[in-house]
Amino acid sequence: LKMAISGLALQSWVILLLIFSLHLANGDISYSFPEEMKRGSVIGNIAKDLGLETSRLSSRKARIDTDGSDKRYCDINLRNGDLTVAERIDREGLCGDKASCVLKQELMLESPLELHRISLHVQDINDNSPQFNKESIHIDISENTVKGARFPIEEAHDADIGKYSVQTYNLQRNENFILGVGTNSVELVLNKELDRENLKEINLLLTALDGGSPQKSGTVVIHITVLDANDNVPVFSQAVYKASLPENSPLGTVVLTVSATDADEGLNGDITYDFGHISEDIKSMFTIDHKTGDIKVTTTVDFETMSSFELRVTAKDGLGLTSYAKVIVDVSDINDNAPVIYLKSLSNPIPENVSPGTEVGIINVQDRDSETNKQVRCSIQQNVPFKLVPSIKNYYSLVTTGQLDRELVSDYNITITATDEGSPPLSSSKTVQLSVADINDNPPVFEEQSYSAYVTENNKPGSTLCSVTARDPDWRQNGTVIYSLLAGEVNGAPVSSYLSVNGDTGVIHAVRSFDYEQFRSFKVHVMARDNGSPPLSSNVTVSVFISDVNDNSPQILYPAPEGNSFMTELVPKAAHGGSLVSKVIAVDADSGQNAWLSYHIVKSTDPGLFTIGLHSGEIRTQRDISESDSMKQNLIVSVKDNGQPSLSATCSMYLLISDNLAEVPELKDISYDEKNSKLTSYLIIALVSVSTFFLTFIIIILGVRFCRRRKPRLLFDGAVAIPSAYLPPNYADVDGTGTLRSAYNYDAYLTTGSRTSDFKFVTSYNDNTLPADQTLRKSPSDFADVFGDSDGSPEVGTHFISLNLLWLILKV
Ligand SMILES: *[C@@H]1O[C@H](CO)[C@@H](O)[C@H](O)[C@H]1NC(C)=O
Ligand SMILES: *[C@@H]1O[C@H](CO)[C@@H](O)[C@H](O)[C@H]1NC(C)=O
Ligand SMILES: *[C@@H]1O[C@H](CO)[C@@H](O)[C@H](O)[C@H]1NC(C)=O
Repeated sequence: LKMAISGLALQSWVILLLIFSLHLANGDISYSFPEEMKRGSVIGNIAKDLGLETSRLSSRKARIDTDGSDKRYCDINLRNGDLTVAERIDREGLCGDKASCVLKQELMLESPLELHRISLHVQDINDNSPQFNKESIHIDISENTVKGARFPIEEAHDADIGKYSVQTYNLQRNENFILGVGTNSVELVLNKELDRENLKEINLLLTALDGGSPQKSGTVVIHITVLDANDNVPVFSQAVYKASLPENSPLGTVVLTVSATDADEGLNGDITYDFGHISEDIKSMFTIDHKTGDIKVTTTVDFETMSSFELRVTAKDGLGLTSYAKVIVDVSDINDNAPVIYLKSLSNPIPENVSPGTEVGIINVQDRDSETNKQVRCSIQQNVPFKLVPSIKNYYSLVTTGQLDRELVSDYNITITATDEGSPPLSSSKTVQLSVADINDNPPVFEEQSYSAYVTENNKPGSTLCSVTARDPDWRQNGTVIYSLLAGEVNGAPVSSYLSVNGDTGVIHAVRSFDYEQFRSFKVHVMARDNGSPPLSSNVTVSVFISDVNDNSPQILYPAPEGNSFMTELVPKAAHGGSLVSKVIAVDADSGQNAWLSYHIVKSTDPGLFTIGLHSGEIRTQRDISESDSMKQNLIVSVKDNGQPSLSATCSMYLLISDNLAEVPELKDISYDEKNSKLTSYLIIALVSVSTFFLTFIIIILGVRFCRRRKPRLLFDGAVAIPSAYLPPNYADVDGTGTLRSAYNYDAYLTTGSRTSDFKFVTSYNDNTLPADQTLRKSPSDFADVFGDSDGSPEVGTHFISLNLLWLILKV
């Protein structure tokens, strides 16, 4: 404003001075006009101003000359005397920022020569804008610069002068800066502190304005870069990180990446990650990448050991500002542990008689995994009579499901399988060995229902008859079989006197020699008993069959064996050929072929006269008796059985061909060529024999009377052989009972009588249950008893008497 005012005053003063000089000074003239007028523009009429005739201007060759080296800026119009702009006049170009700008020009006229000085005062116009030196200005300001700080900005320049020069500045509205005025400059004043993290670059437009009208302006962009200060701590994206890590993850697995940001830049924002305070163990299990924040596992993590980890991580920027976060790693379970089966208790062995449902063992199953991975199912896959019954928690009872039988299965290998419910499931198994203890539940069983032993008579005592075997499947002493004879009687004697059994082997031995003629079979019971407690036993019947041996010679009942009797048969003189004369009666205690007797005449007085039935023993005449035949006939008959070798006996038969006993000469004469002593003893024996039969007859009669209803006692099954001559040749005596029906026996003997003989041997063999030889060997005293003769042994004389008596009886 001052300048403008002063400029204005100066101008006015110059103008006044010009006008004055124009009028006073001869020949000098000045004009004032604005710069930048168009070429040809009229500055003024110089002719008029100088008082010159316009018509003479051209003749006087009026012209404008420059003073010195100045350029010719104006021209004169010779027709009217106007001074015009000849050249562009730029005040700033000609005079710079000088306050006054005068151009010296001269008007020259000839004829006469006249010279007028012309001063051209070029006046300023607002033709220039303010201008800054640069289009943009760069300033770096640290964000922690305090409020009030000043930052000078180079001023703008305006080529115009005075009021057309730069008058004011304008700063674009912003939060942080205001405009201040410095001594030689404008200044940016920090009005509000900067935050790089909020705004790191600011562009402000500064406008410079001049005082023209219209105003002209110039602008500059102030580019402010906010420099970082480490005013920010790193910030984790989460205060607590949670990650899940499957156990047994491979080493190097990234568990989690922590991340922190720092608003600062450069070193100030350069974050380094690390673990905070954690135990050494955990530190050895994880690593953290200092740059990326990746947390990795470095060892195998076992859920069953530790299921969760808590790590502290730090983030530190370059200048040491640190922040903290927590990382919780939950290890998730993988089904990596198979169930383990523990046998807690076991009753081994178990008795075979335990009832179904008996608990024999307790099993515990454990799985170290968790959740479903530790849910375990236990089972027995085999077909065994055992099952698992779930009990409390992971306990199972092993119980029997059925009856056990040691004799069928004595050992069980029970395989218990435990499977968890993980995916994939894991399983394990355990084999429990269980043995079944024996109970004495099986009696010995004989291999056969009954046993039969066959032995020939006259065996050696101690010989083996047979052996019995019983089996007992039980164990050890419960299955050890001991054989024994059951007490009983055979023929009135204890069985032990007949047989013995080897307690260990079951071999049955004869204790004595058996006699077929005594008995032919018997039965004993053998018991097999085990050694259990209590013992079990079973019985079997052993039938012993004794077979016959030809050990008995035929026994001649009639006539008395040779040398022992003097039996004489009377043969009527008138006997015709074929008449039955007598009969040899013999028995054999053996049976079958051994008792099948055959009769032969070995020797005879007249070989052609008598014949004997081969099997009947009947002696018949072969032809009619003639007068010439000797009265006394003597036959020696041999009786043979059919055994191998055969045994035989002989007897003599005396026949007297006579009708009258009185005709018989002296008995002595009957004696053939025997010695007297011998004859005597024969007679005695014959007498005794006959007496015996007679006596027996009487005894039997008496017996029948006294004990009519009493059946004779059978001592054993066997009956004494009957004269087998009357039996069929195929007669086998060793049948089931060994006994012929008594009626048959009786009949047989009823036919034995001689047709001619009065003597009938009517004693039924039915009663003759005593052994034949016993019967036949009755002592003579027996006869004496019967006849009331009690005075000692009979003499030879009495024998004769008796014989005579016998003859009389026979005769009657
Ligand atoms: C049980 O296992 C044992 C040992 O492996 C073996 O000796 C025995 O024969 C097995 N018993 C059965 C009944 O399989
Ligand atoms: C035999 O059986 C009894 C029970 O009847 C039993 O107590 C005993 O242990 C068994 N003996 C053997 C050797 O098995
Ligand atoms: C065996 O015989 C004896 C004696 O006769 C008897 O007491 C026992 O009961 C019998 N035992 C059997 C198993 O038949």
